[in-house]
Amino acid sequence: MRVVSFVPVALTAIPLASALPRAYEPIGRRSSINSLLNDVLVFDAPAFDDPANPGNTLVQLQAFVSTPEISATPLLDAAQPFLQDTIGLNITNDLDRVASRLALFTTIGLGGKDVPVTVGGCGTSPTLQGTASNGMAIQNISLGACGGAQALGKVNSETSSNFTLFPASADGFGVISDIDDTVKVTHTLDKLLSAKATLIDTPVPVTGMPDVYASLAQSLNNPQFIYVSAGPFQLYPFLKSFIETTFAPANGPIMLNNLTTTNISQILDFSNLDGVFDYKSAMIDRIHGMYPGKTFLAVGDSTQKDPETYGNAIRKYGDFIQCAWIRLVDGANNTDARFAAAFEGVDPSKFKLYNDTEIPSLANIDVAGGKCS
Ligand SMILES: *[C@@H]1O[C@H](CO)[C@@H](O)[C@H](O)[C@H]1NC(C)=O
Ligand SMILES: *[C@@H]1O[C@H](CO)[C@@H](O)[C@H](O)[C@H]1NC(C)=O
Ligand SMILES: *[C@@H]1O[C@H](CO)[C@@H](O)[C@H](O)[C@H]1NC(C)=O
Ligand SMILES: *[C@@H]1O[C@H](CO)[C@@H](O)[C@H](O)[C@H]1NC(C)=O
Ligand SMILES: *[C@@H]1O[C@H](CO)[C@@H](O)[C@H](O)[C@H]1NC(C)=O
Ligand SMILES: *[C@@H]1O[C@H](CO)[C@@H](O)[C@H](O)[C@H]1NC(C)=O
Ligand SMILES: *[C@@H]1O[C@H](CO)[C@@H](O)[C@H](O)[C@H]1NC(C)=O
Repeated sequence: MRVVSFVPVALTAIPLASALPRAYEPIGRRSSINSLLNDVLVFDAPAFDDPANPGNTLVQLQAFVSTPEISATPLLDAAQPFLQDTIGLNITNDLDRVASRLALFTTIGLGGKDVPVTVGGCGTSPTLQGTASNGMAIQNISLGACGGAQALGKVNSETSSNFTLFPASADGFGVISDIDDTVKVTHTLDKLLSAKATLIDTPVPVTGMPDVYASLAQSLNNPQFIYVSAGPFQLYPFLKSFIETTFAPANGPIMLNNLTTTNISQILDFSNLDGVFDYKSAMIDRIHGMYPGKTFLAVGDSTQKDPETYGNAIRKYGDFIQCAWIRLVDGANNTDARFAAAFEGVDPSKFKLYNDTEIPSLANIDVAGGKCS
């Protein structure tokens, strides 16, 4: 690895680790890019036809380079009073679980790092150039004529983290899906239950959705599934493992938000809608940039800003979003006025609001034939 570690930043983490009173083992390191000081996470990546070079594939690769994960003890010590007193969640018996869910919040992003990777079946070793100061890099990287099939990629280092390459053709279907309370029970509107679902509980799918997505995987002929959540990228390992196991036929890349805070109140603030519309709209722009010729079904729920985001995307991109499905979550704003505003100017045949009783019947909708309900 040609980039040398930025030692001063790494060292800021160490006094915390050595000052720990309690016995959490340091979290297992994801990968080592340079001796003991850097870790690399490469996210599962969408790949698409290179518009400038027919027959070539571009991968939109995202990596996070950071100091290694350290003990979560300081974070938990700071979080516990808030969780106990404000939310009413006692994590005393679940400290290991919580520590592992929050592990990435104990890292510090490192700027200016290059990340060379290898993609299975491809001879070349492309490199992500220069992470931003938050440790993140997102770049389109050419795989040349290779990269047309789903493949495993890895970071070029001794203990590398793997990622999956998800290529998709320029046409055909795709599915844009929210995660929290669309496919995974998060209880977004309830502070105690959402903190518990995020920090402690084994994740549970919204009943019936795994079957609906498995059915879409077939009826839409292996569409590109892309999960778009406004949640912090630090939850990626948790969410990835959930999607990969519970939604296996609908596995796909997950787009998450940048968050630098370690303030647990902000990490768990699902009710904070600031920026959610703009973030999700930007992710749809990003997907449109890669797959302008595809037709997407967009699936979300009524807790946050999915109706507004998808309604706006339909107005902006027309048939690129063929259809929006919105799960009506109890306690959310499910008024006619809200949906009339969100889907103003959108043909009512292009969106469907559904309650939990109707979930199994979603699989019967002829989306491939152009229908939405
Ligand atoms: C939290 O749970 C632990 C273990 O059950 C218990 O000992 C402790 O008293 C609880 N704390 C509070 C504030 O309820
Ligand atoms: C990466 O994938 C290879 C090949 O499947 C596997 O042998 C290796 O254990 C994986 N590494 C990690 C860190 O998951
Ligand atoms: C996250 O940070 C990277 C690096 O600054 C940036 O390129 C990317 O657009 C950011 N993503 C979001 C969702 O803001
Ligand atoms: C964490 O964020 C909350 C909400 O924004 C704020 O009220 C609180 O003061 C912050 N705590 C710390 C330690 O900064
Ligand atoms: C990647 O390529 C897509 C499609 O050409 C484009 O929309 C997008 O802006 C590019 N992203 C970056 C980071 O260059
Ligand atoms: C629901 O949304 C509509 C449209 O944005 C708004 O006018 C109304 O005040 C909201 N109702 C509640 C209870 O928040
Ligand atoms: C769900 O929607 C169906 C069909 O519109 C309706 O018959 C049923 O009463 C609804 N169920 C609930 C619990 O709202």
